[in-house]
Amino acid sequence: MTVESVHPGARGQRAPLHEAPVAGGSVPLLGHGWRLVRDPLAFLAQLRDHGDVVRLRLGPKTVYAVTTPALTGALALSPDYIIAGPLWESLESLLGKEGVATANGPLHRRQRRTIQPAFRLDAIPAYGPIMAEEAYALVQRWRSGEVLDVTAESFRVAVRVAARCLMRGSYMDARAERICTALATLFSGMYQRMVVPLGPLYRIPVPSNREFNRALADLHHLVDEIVADRRASGRKPDDLLTALLDAKDENGEPIGEQEIHDQVIAILTPGSETVGSTIMSLLLVLTEHPDLGDRIRDEVTTVVADRPVAFEDVRKLTYTANVVVETMRLYPAVWILTRRAVTETDLGGYRIPAGADVIYSPYAIQRDRRSYQRHEDFDPDRWLPDRAGEVPKYAMSPFSVGNRKCPSDHFSMAELTLITAVVASAYRFEQAPGSDARPRIGITLRPRRLMLRALPR
Ligand code: HEM
Repeated sequence: MTVESVHPGARGQRAPLHEAPVAGGSVPLLGHGWRLVRDPLAFLAQLRDHGDVVRLRLGPKTVYAVTTPALTGALALSPDYIIAGPLWESLESLLGKEGVATANGPLHRRQRRTIQPAFRLDAIPAYGPIMAEEAYALVQRWRSGEVLDVTAESFRVAVRVAARCLMRGSYMDARAERICTALATLFSGMYQRMVVPLGPLYRIPVPSNREFNRALADLHHLVDEIVADRRASGRKPDDLLTALLDAKDENGEPIGEQEIHDQVIAILTPGSETVGSTIMSLLLVLTEHPDLGDRIRDEVTTVVADRPVAFEDVRKLTYTANVVVETMRLYPAVWILTRRAVTETDLGGYRIPAGADVIYSPYAIQRDRRSYQRHEDFDPDRWLPDRAGEVPKYAMSPFSVGNRKCPSDHFSMAELTLITAVVASAYRFEQAPGSDARPRIGITLRPRRLMLRALPR
């Protein structure tokens, strides 16, 4: 099925719309929520067997799940769906209501215009030296034979790259660790609030709720410090923070403090959590498939010989980039997305009522046997130009498509390819005692607790 044949929103005189079937496995009170808590990946991965669109019950709510690549593309590209729904409601407590990740309509369009220049393809080379410096700093921190706490290492480098490139300033260094700690607590707490939306219960002052609230307060405090420090410095480097501080609203007036605050959070938090999770998955993949590391090292040797890997080499490191892409296929950091219908719409012949929440899972889409041969095999060569064309449209969209597409796709691919090239050329890895590589499913997907021993090449 092509997107063109889906006609989202355009009902016209065509055949009457069907009610989507209810997925099996619902229980009283929690509905399908218990399955989304207990084993969400397996649950979502089998939904396509029940239909292209299926209904789920989450507590008192009915949510529609879209299961085919074509329909997820149609959903993401349609103006009839906005950012809202359970994921975003739970994220609003973190991201605020006025940041680019949660805003809709004209506010969202204006904010995208403000931030877009910092992520344009021609802006990325300026970040190259910082990305390379951080990649080498990472391998220089590690000692041969040392056991690494990969969660801390991955999130640390992700926060540092995002903060140093986009908010230029050494003042970020001391704060990077605090941001990581706060985000780790917040993201795990928010997933629970999304799938089991028992609102008032989360306000009861039990230790887990208190810890969540403390982390939230600390993150907001940190962002205020970042903004205040930049203003106090009197500096206006050509970066994203300057663009945010100088942004004007529709009337040409400076944007408000709350919006600046929400914007910084809405960019730093998705940027750190997604990249940190992907680096963890990459390191797990390198551990489980040592031959990949060998091939990456060989490619790096061919392309750059003995000098350090630089940003300019990235586009020639095609095998390394394909390892990154294949990692994002099998372990997409953003594994679930939601939208809300603003009007009644037609999605693949099914009626989506106005106000309905719709979800889909890049994890399920990107592992579907109908879209990929040997769908669970890790095969970077499936992204070679002569094979990549076999992949159905929208069956590989880890950065999404449409007006909410991640602004940072080029930025992230450059960063991840560079880090992978540098790390895999320097070390092999093996799991150390205490490591738990099972997926940890929160707002993002990543290995639970990865402890790796770094061994020299
Ligand atoms: C949006 C994935 C890195 C900032 C998104 C979306 C996805 C995504 C799937 C769309 C959400 C939706 O459709 O509802 C990823 C992945 C990354 C990554 C897989 C890395 C592996 C980053 C980085 C930054 C960033 C490094 C910033 C430093 C954002 C922002 C949005 C967004 C601000 C909201 C855009 C909007 O709503 O207009 N990301 N992202 N992301 N991402 Fe990323």
